[in-house]
Amino acid sequence: MLMQVKNQPGPSRSDFPTDFIWGVATSAYQIEGAADIDGRGPSVWDTFCRQSGAIADGSDGRTVCDHYHRWPEDLALIEQLGVNAYRFSLSWPRVQPLGQGAWNEAGFAFYQRLIDALCARGIQVHLTLNHWDLPQALQDQGGWASRETCTHFVRYAQEVARRFGPQLTSLCTHNEPWVVSVLGHEQGIFAPGIRSRAVAMQVSHHLLLSHGMALKALREQGLACELGIVLNLSPIYPVSDRPEDVQKAQLDDGLIARWYLDPLYKGTYPADVWDHLGQDVPQVEAGDMALIAQPMDYLGVNYYTRGMASGGEPWDVHQGGQELTDMGWEVFPQGLTELLCRLHRDYPVKRLRVTENGAAFKDEVVNGEVDDERRVAYLQSHIAATQAARAQGAPVDAYFAWSLLDNFEWASGCAKRFGLIHVDFQTLQRTPKRSAQWLRQFLKG
Ligand code: FCB
Repeated sequence: MLMQVKNQPGPSRSDFPTDFIWGVATSAYQIEGAADIDGRGPSVWDTFCRQSGAIADGSDGRTVCDHYHRWPEDLALIEQLGVNAYRFSLSWPRVQPLGQGAWNEAGFAFYQRLIDALCARGIQVHLTLNHWDLPQALQDQGGWASRETCTHFVRYAQEVARRFGPQLTSLCTHNEPWVVSVLGHEQGIFAPGIRSRAVAMQVSHHLLLSHGMALKALREQGLACELGIVLNLSPIYPVSDRPEDVQKAQLDDGLIARWYLDPLYKGTYPADVWDHLGQDVPQVEAGDMALIAQPMDYLGVNYYTRGMASGGEPWDVHQGGQELTDMGWEVFPQGLTELLCRLHRDYPVKRLRVTENGAAFKDEVVNGEVDDERRVAYLQSHIAATQAARAQGAPVDAYFAWSLLDNFEWASGCAKRFGLIHVDFQTLQRTPKRSAQWLRQFLKG
């Protein structure tokens, strides 16, 4: 049974507690640009973008929004939205060009300016350490397939915490490890473009392991901010009641969700998925699972759509509904309610955060305005879905819209616009869309 979101005029801020966290989210490679400036080293995405055919429109992150130079303007836009939080990621190769050894002070100085300015405005800082832009130098030594990368990641995490710790509200180790593992190492459609399920599963284990190692080290270091991880999650529905479809939905949920949630919260990989993987299971050393299962202050949930399962592979989801976004993703807000309630029911989650939610549409500037009515409706229905989960007891304390700006949407390039603020990638002019005005009004109450 799917839970229905009541068809009301729209949610209101007063439906949520006054200390609820309202934010917008971005990530470094998708907005910063300045790829060769001030000592930044190359990341796996710089390399991947150069492969012919890898990016739909041939674009890359070398300039994109040029947030590196335009951050004061972007910060003013964040402030105008009236949000009380900003989720963004640090580019590891900007602060440590080789991923080990020397730190790049110019890189750290950029983030220090940004963090100081956010704090001065009373905007909470929710920082992500790995939003996929691994230093290429580490990839050259095996990347996430190599256990050594976990040790380098912990040193990077500790240095970030040493410098910024007191100013952070939360620190997230990895954004969407499934994407790095499966899209990056099994399907090869994201950086670093490897195609091997065995490698992908080893990568997933090292991402989880490095998460646990980092949490342990950061707590030992005395870091006081909230610590967690962000997963891409969707409820997966069988296309019919036939046993093979139901079993497939169960397996897909295992590969996408339980493969990450069970180690994090139960210290074990799900047996059905382990059996299914056969020879492709990762090498797990004694003590790894206990390390992974460090207590977390919150779980971040990135939700865009639901999954449907029939035959085929887990990522080959067949969308069933009427309304699709420009990504071809079905608009399905009740899936968010169901997902949040399920996480609360099945795992001992302390806090749940919607760390990404949003939609791409073909937005155009007409007479200086962008009338993205469908994005407004998307945000409204998903905020209502978040509230519905809260009403059923799910401990959700934050909602971050993806994204502040139109940006580099990975393999889709710059063609898919998720921003509340339109970016003209030629002139770099920013134009707040109607959805930005809507959010501002919503937050004003
Ligand atoms: C998520 C990513 C984010 C963005 C959105 C649309 O998977 O975390 O960077 O690309 O999808």
